[in-house]
Amino acid sequence: MENMNNNLPERDGFASKFGIIAAAAGSAIGLGNIWKFPYITGIYGGAAFIIVYLVCITLIGAPVMLSEFTIGRKAQRNAIGSFKKIAPNSPWFITGWMGFLAAFSILSFYGVVAGWSLDYIVSAIMNKFATMGPDEIGGHFGGLISSAWRPIFWQVVFMAMTAGVVLGGVKDGIEKYAKILMPLLLVIIVILDIRAVTLPGSGAGVSFLLKPDFTKVSSEAILSALGHAFFSLSLGMGTMITYGSYIGKKENLGEVAMQVTIADTLIALLAGLAIFPAVFAFGIEPSAGPGLVFITLPNVFQQMPGGYIFQILFFVLLAVAALTSSVSILEVVVAYFQEEKNMSRTKSVIIATVAITILGMAASLSMGPWSDIKILLPGFGQLNIFDWLDKFSANYMLPLGGLFISLFVGFKMDREDVYNEVSDEGDLSVSYFGAYMILTKFIAPIGISIVFLHNFGLF
Ligand code: PHE
Repeated sequence: MENMNNNLPERDGFASKFGIIAAAAGSAIGLGNIWKFPYITGIYGGAAFIIVYLVCITLIGAPVMLSEFTIGRKAQRNAIGSFKKIAPNSPWFITGWMGFLAAFSILSFYGVVAGWSLDYIVSAIMNKFATMGPDEIGGHFGGLISSAWRPIFWQVVFMAMTAGVVLGGVKDGIEKYAKILMPLLLVIIVILDIRAVTLPGSGAGVSFLLKPDFTKVSSEAILSALGHAFFSLSLGMGTMITYGSYIGKKENLGEVAMQVTIADTLIALLAGLAIFPAVFAFGIEPSAGPGLVFITLPNVFQQMPGGYIFQILFFVLLAVAALTSSVSILEVVVAYFQEEKNMSRTKSVIIATVAITILGMAASLSMGPWSDIKILLPGFGQLNIFDWLDKFSANYMLPLGGLFISLFVGFKMDREDVYNEVSDEGDLSVSYFGAYMILTKFIAPIGISIVFLHNFGLF
């Protein structure tokens, strides 16, 4: 549709309130919730870690999300363009560029892990794990991720699915699929939860999630909680700036940020509740690390009545969660190409997808044939390409992005403009505005700085 005044195509955007929540929660809810959250909770001791995580998302996560929505909706542009428009002739747009880089690195390894889950759906349907003992399942996973072509094949399939959704546009692609996939995700996770908590012996897993043991909360646990808050809520790289730019002027941004934060947290907890009771019921250690869902769970499913169906459902859940997130990451890059480089949507999607997929192939190969290639990441030592991209984006780019976004809204933007955006030009009463500004100006920047300096070994 053409806009009569300036001949520019009318900007695409979300069409409904439910669509906004589904798309933004779809971005937030992903591998971070279902793959990462349970295993880091396992490593850092359960309920006490969860409490620390809740503090992080309340004081830092939710306010940063509101700030991203505010920047995007005010500017009506992509992540880089938003900074250029609100603060022209200033270096703030570098924040957008950092997000662009983070999007590239996150999606490259994210597509690889999502590809593993597609491979697992097929293995689950073929009931491959039924004949395997615990060691063999471990060997199967190690074999999959270290082989050359199989993970790349599935990564390419997954990236093609991502591109297919984004190609449809915001309303007819991203929003349309999110409205179907997010309810599906909720149904699957609830079914899995019911199965898990009705297993004999599941009580130990439930109390692992509910009874805090604060002696386990190390400084490393606190830092991981904050890093994960950014990753899980899709913050610090302009995803929510980009999505915010698609939110209508009459929507209540504070409410959307709140609802998305709550939905993301609820799904992470439900994922923990689907996994730990089952893990405990079969006498397996909870701190299984990254292999928790790919090694421990298939093992658990073999011993569980009805396990055949539940294993298929679980890996479908993982793939669905990953897809609605990968779409939001690709959109950051695509929106930039489209608006700042005047490319067509199709061309933007193709170029972005191909480039990210190639980088992802390198990440995948670095788990096998290219495992000798090591790159230094300060604070983490020598890492393979996959781990480097993961740690670099989650521990450097996202927190740094979140820091600059908070400072931008807190100190660079006009307080009046921020107020107008958050209150829909004064239509809404935003009694929380003062508290929000304090969190944005001081609490978030100080908290993030502490984490960041620690990653550099300076704190
Ligand atoms: N939030 C997503 C997850 O939890 C990952 C993500 C990170 C998506 C950054 C967008 C931006 O899996």
